[in-house]
Amino acid sequence: MPDTLADLVTKRYGPETPGGADMPAEGPLAAILDRRTHRRYADRPVPEEMLDLLFACAFSASAKSDLQQASVVRVADPALRAEVAALIPGMPWIGTAPVFLVWCGDGRRIRRICELRGKPFANDHFDAAFNPTVDAALAMQTFILAAEAAGLGCCPISVIRNHAFRVGELLGLPEWVFPLAGLCVGWPAAEGYISMRVPPSVTVHTDRYDDDKLAAGIDAYDRRRDAIYSIPADKQRDPDRYGKAGFYGWSEDKARQVSHTEREDFGAFLRRQGYRLD
Ligand SMILES: Cc1cc2nc3c(=O)[nH]c(=O)nc-3n(C[C@H](O)[C@H](O)[C@H](O)COP(=O)(O)O)c2cc1C
Repeated sequence: MPDTLADLVTKRYGPETPGGADMPAEGPLAAILDRRTHRRYADRPVPEEMLDLLFACAFSASAKSDLQQASVVRVADPALRAEVAALIPGMPWIGTAPVFLVWCGDGRRIRRICELRGKPFANDHFDAAFNPTVDAALAMQTFILAAEAAGLGCCPISVIRNHAFRVGELLGLPEWVFPLAGLCVGWPAAEGYISMRVPPSVTVHTDRYDDDKLAAGIDAYDRRRDAIYSIPADKQRDPDRYGKAGFYGWSEDKARQVSHTEREDFGAFLRRQGYRLD
């Protein structure tokens, strides 16, 4: 059991990350440091009142200019859920989680409000797509942190965007509304694990962006992560294209992952929903 926040920081980032040595491992900071994604859930429903409360927490997130451009669609109909889950057979948790939500960027409401108030909406450019994206991400993450505080586990699902046109059709997403990510929610069936992160020495910059030490920082991170959990040899991506690596760390895995094009048509989907992306 971790005694101090520093113990949790070390679990997340490795030993050389300072901070929290004289603070007990409890309260909201401990919950954030200790958080993890859950993909397996107990066969136990999430009470409706709790969901309502979590939505209230989610939409308490900050919102750009108070425009509040996020929405969520709860997929409650079992047949509809099955259709969404069938699009992504490799992630069975989409079909099995007690609750499945789709968080959406929503540029529709403010446009409708402009109509209601007889004013032009004069922001037909990329930023008008970016702001609802940020709002939806903040609302989803706030929901996740609230759900985790209540003992629930969550798993965001961006892979639904691989099927954006179909998901849009199934959920009846109108013009200016787009899926950011799905979210599985339920009572965790297992403890799960803390996933190590790239350390602040790589992600936190002072005054000027500086990634001169990136290679060394990532190598050390790969080794630290591998010491906790080694990716099994049969899980190496694309051995036919890239061969079997002697040491297969996080960075090799992620570089191989993004060497494949994914979701190339999402821009086309956003344009279909009405957005200009320039
Ligand atoms: C926007 C977003 C989309 C994600 N999409 C998926 C997904 O499609 N499928 C999945 O199993 N996990 C998904 N995840 C979960 C990540 O894989 C997970 O957060 C990451 O591996 C770090 O693990 P941790 O949250 O336990 O620290 C997503 C997370 C985020 C924030």
